Amino acid sequence: MARSFLQCTDIPAGELDSVFHQAAALKAERPRGHPPFIEGQTWALIFHKPSTRTRVSFEVGINELGGYPLYLEQSQTQMGRGESVADTAKVLSRYVHGIVIRTFDQAMVEELAREGSVPVINGLTDLLHPCQVYSDAFTLAERWVDEEGEWAAGLKGRKVAFIGDTASNMAHSWILGGAHFGMEIALAGPEAFRPGAAIDARLKAAGLPLNYTFTTDPLEAAAGADVVYTDVWVSMGDEGERAERIAAFAPFQVNDRVMAAAKPDAYFMHCLPAHVGEEVSESVYRSERSIVLDQAENRLHMQKALIVHLQEEV
Ligand code: CP
Ligand code: NVA
Repeated sequence: MARSFLQCTDIPAGELDSVFHQAAALKAERPRGHPPFIEGQTWALIFHKPSTRTRVSFEVGINELGGYPLYLEQSQTQMGRGESVADTAKVLSRYVHGIVIRTFDQAMVEELAREGSVPVINGLTDLLHPCQVYSDAFTLAERWVDEEGEWAAGLKGRKVAFIGDTASNMAHSWILGGAHFGMEIALAGPEAFRPGAAIDARLKAAGLPLNYTFTTDPLEAAAGADVVYTDVWVSMGDEGERAERIAAFAPFQVNDRVMAAAKPDAYFMHCLPAHVGEEVSESVYRSERSIVLDQAENRLHMQKALIVHLQEEV
């Protein structure tokens, strides 16, 4: 089976520095151009949900690496008419050198990787969004990298407060990614959205500690945090629950009061798209602590680094 990136722990901790370093190098070299690491390769991009950042950053990134991105829309493929995941994986593996997939079910992404023979990258599922968390971690590591160029070390022991939909793919990804990076994750959300057994089981399976806390008090979670993170209250696929969700999450807006509980130099982060005025106030979103556009830019550099990294033999 080829090396895939389906969840944050798929890059072993000992390889994190190399991935961060690669992302930094690709970012620095971009204006002049860099070697075509995947020259002659074609990567399929399968999207079963909408996307701006993920689709564009992968298309641009694969192109810049010398490869060809082949975008496959659900309604235009036989997968959309019920062809099995296993057959899709086996057939695509005869044509393309890698697959990026955004879909609903994490199990489908895992099956695609298991049944195929090319690298698969998870571009978001209902459960996880690992590309986003790696790009976010890189965005922080850029700010915290030490003089010896140790990227991952700068993340260790830092506190991320995740406030809002604590059962979302982003919250789950921070739980798993945070444990993998050695960070402290403090979640605040409604009791009904407390992260469940699915994510605890993944932590356990990866040999990681249950190093997150959950509270219904946003100020408690934000206390002393280095980062305050939020995500939309209505994720893709949750539109039918919009009214209930807005009501449940209303006490969990990231606003000036929440940011004041964090460290004075804490960053505000959001994966985007944002609904300003819902999960985050205009004042925080537009403040100098907000690094949301750097996060979005780093999707490009980090995903290119991941693609290059997955080419390496284990
Ligand atoms: N953050 C993110 O994944 O954005 P898109 O849904 O636009 O891809
Ligand atoms: N939780 C959001 C993330 C979007 C990038 C969603 O799944 O819609």
